[in-house]
Amino acid sequence: MTRVVEAADAAALEERARRGFTARFGREPSLVVSAPGRANLIGEHTDYNDGFVLPFAIARRTAIAAAPREDRSVEAAGALAPGSVQIPLDGAIERGEPRWGDYLRGVLAESRALPGGALDPGGFDAWIESDVPVGAGLSSSAALEVAFAGVIEALAGRPLDPLDKAALCQRAEHAYAGVPCGIMDQMASTLAGEGELLLIDCRSLEHERIVLPAQLEIVVVDSGLPHDLGEGEFARRVAECREAARKLGVASLRDATPDGLEQLRASGETLLWRRARHVVEENQRVLDAVAAIRTNDWRRLGDLLDESHASLRDLYEVSRPEMDALVHGLRRAGALGARMTGGGFGGCAVALFERGRRTLALPGQPKNTGNRLSPA
Ligand code: GLA
Repeated sequence: MTRVVEAADAAALEERARRGFTARFGREPSLVVSAPGRANLIGEHTDYNDGFVLPFAIARRTAIAAAPREDRSVEAAGALAPGSVQIPLDGAIERGEPRWGDYLRGVLAESRALPGGALDPGGFDAWIESDVPVGAGLSSSAALEVAFAGVIEALAGRPLDPLDKAALCQRAEHAYAGVPCGIMDQMASTLAGEGELLLIDCRSLEHERIVLPAQLEIVVVDSGLPHDLGEGEFARRVAECREAARKLGVASLRDATPDGLEQLRASGETLLWRRARHVVEENQRVLDAVAAIRTNDWRRLGDLLDESHASLRDLYEVSRPEMDALVHGLRRAGALGARMTGGGFGGCAVALFERGRRTLALPGQPKNTGNRLSPA
């Protein structure tokens, strides 16, 4: 069943985290830290190819209430998943059960291994609440990592540079969740503000805030199809891109040229050619989308979203028929453009509407009061 991802109240979430902490640990928390999930307007599967992305923070967050404890260990539990996690601070940190704890283990381990010296939060208890849908491709994992890193930096009394924090969380995801993701999710969760898009150059990590014009709104719709990045398809795409770059003799597909693409095709590497072509053209679409926003060319922006979806479906092969049907339904509901967002194989779609121009009900939802990216 598809449904619009409604905006949620961040203050209420943080209050739930506070109360949950007190109920579980029998004292008041000393701090509450939260971080948002993200959706991506355009620039899909480009981040791990050193390319461009244009994500935004959604009004759904993960909040963690925490307070120091006497011994040097961390205990975390929450309403989001069963079980609790115990992590001794001074021993080796191994992956384990419950699996959601691996995001915390990873962030703790990486914060001990920081180039500028270990961050030592001391022992603490933590209670986690979240309204980022899990398995919907809205980066619930990045929100958990970034919020947990926020707790660690606060308790250690040493604020991290936001880029260092995002990179730490990305390393945690690589090493402890086994997902070779790019930097988009963690940077969006760390740096994106409300009502704005974050243009990121994933090679230099330079980023720029782009305000969405008041005439536009972006609606996030959950397809209801669970997506699981750990299933291997994501890692396979990453490997295919590396292989394509190796064959082209470039550091990453960011550097691939039209001539190079043609050579790939001519040499019979059709699968690698399809993947590489998606990446090269998607990078250009991100830059074109920013130009369209700057020149108020909404039609062009919508078309770019549609082209991105077609490319993800036909060249990158990460969509599903149900997702294609949802995207089609969103266009019929008056969207200027619509596409799958995130890693693929289910998850969410984003649709761009001219404010007030939506004529039909959105698929699966008679009235939309949903999670829109509205201008600041
Ligand atoms: C997942 C990854 C991101 C990015 C997207 C696809 O969300 O975590 O790094 O690669 O897929 O754009």
